[in-house]
Amino acid sequence: MASGKQAKEKSSNKKKDLTEIYEIRKKLQKILKPDRYEHSLSVSFTCICLAMRYGVDLYKAEIAGLVHDCAKQFSDGDLIKACEKDKVEITEDMKKAPQVIHSVYGAVYARKALGIEDPEILSAVYHHTLGKPQMSLLEAIVFTADYIEARRYKAARLPEIRQMAFMDIERAVYEINHDTILYLEESGGYICKLSYDTYQYYKELMKSRGLPID
Ligand SMILES: [Fe+2]
Ligand SMILES: [Fe+2]
Repeated sequence: MASGKQAKEKSSNKKKDLTEIYEIRKKLQKILKPDRYEHSLSVSFTCICLAMRYGVDLYKAEIAGLVHDCAKQFSDGDLIKACEKDKVEITEDMKKAPQVIHSVYGAVYARKALGIEDPEILSAVYHHTLGKPQMSLLEAIVFTADYIEARRYKAARLPEIRQMAFMDIERAVYEINHDTILYLEESGGYICKLSYDTYQYYKELMKSRGLPID
């Protein structure tokens, strides 16, 4: 059982955590358009729910969800310029799909504009668009929450993938990658190599578990 001193420290940490979250929300509200801010809140609450399910730090999950789109307000051109200025490496592949650059630059901007230093949170921001093979649980949670949050309505299999996210997050990551690649193929969008690599990794993982896949 926690001693009185430990319990007191824990509660003052919680107060500090909440103050930080309110501060980040205030800053984000000034940076983002209202619908993007609403999406960010919704992703952060979905991240909290998934973190409860998978035993991940709730505070990190909430912050990562909150800030994942912090660089989304920049135009593609401004993002490329900002990456050059801040020496953030972006591949030629990413330049062909500039909508993914906000995640790469977001990991830098979250530190610069919002004071986020935690490398696990910054990595989850960095990878939230393309994913990567063998994501950490926090990375997989932000990647998944971004797709399933309650304000989303366009993706074809949302009810199914929402349920799956709470049963098997790696399966959900596989299905999200599958559907995103299919959508990009059908709509003529450019698909980054890292997106294929992520897809292949999770496909092999599903196969190794004997799960039926396309
Ligand atoms: Fe995003
Ligand atoms: Fe997002």
